[in-house]
Amino acid sequence: MTARLLPGAPAAEALLADASARAARLPTPPHLVMVRLGDDPASVSYVRGKDRKAREVGLTSTVYALPETTTQAELLDLIARLNADDSVNGILVQLPLPAHVSEQAVLHAIDPRKDVDGFHPLNMGELWAGRPALRPCTPAGILYLLDHYGIPVAGQRAVVVGRSHIVGRPLAGLLLSRDATVTVAHSRTGDLGAVTREADLLCVAVGQPHLITPEMVRPGATVIDVGINRVSGENGGKAHLTGDVDPEVARVAGAITPVPGGVGPMTIAQLLANTVAAAEMQAR
Ligand code: GUN
Repeated sequence: MTARLLPGAPAAEALLADASARAARLPTPPHLVMVRLGDDPASVSYVRGKDRKAREVGLTSTVYALPETTTQAELLDLIARLNADDSVNGILVQLPLPAHVSEQAVLHAIDPRKDVDGFHPLNMGELWAGRPALRPCTPAGILYLLDHYGIPVAGQRAVVVGRSHIVGRPLAGLLLSRDATVTVAHSRTGDLGAVTREADLLCVAVGQPHLITPEMVRPGATVIDVGINRVSGENGGKAHLTGDVDPEVARVAGAITPVPGGVGPMTIAQLLANTVAAAEMQAR
């Protein structure tokens, strides 16, 4: 048996078509502002991809590409101006930030109503309370992908490997709100395989290439691979992207997301859907 592939593109297109139609009903196109500091190649590439897709679906997008040396005070000042600017609906500060800038201070400074990343503690609190709020993009995109492919969540044993603020923690909260039985495993979990083998739905977001091997997966389980790891090719071959899940897992899983082309497109689509939702909220 080989697993059913769950590509992100068809689900992302459905989410974007809906966001685009909703955006067209607003008096002005929703405006997303993204801020990045420095030239980390992954951050440059992610922000470029989000900017391009935003324009494609009819949103207004502005990118502030600031020097690595930007001070925390300068960044907080920019955020205060964006918060006060009624023409701005969504604000995203690309992570990670340079060491001299406090991520916490920055995320707390963004107006929760414009927090299209869903990282503000108010939005995180609403998420864990099971109430409506702007949701972190990768976790919300994963739930959309599961729904798109008709994969059940309620009553399922879900194991989330990874406890980052960007993916693992909020994903656990969303799965719980959808009535999954949720376990969160992490770098200090003993006998990880024994935990992951319990999963009907296994979500992996740790950034370790091929951490999950076939014997760690229950036959027929759904596997969501959030990892995007750049690895250099063998024998000096070309660098390529690979997930946190060994491709051999496709022999035992019931369904699996590819890397690249699985969760990645969902994150971008969900960001733009969040921007439209923020603009709708602000128009009320
Ligand atoms: N860095 C990696 N993923 C993300 C994300 O979803 N949002 C932001 N702001 N930074 C990131």
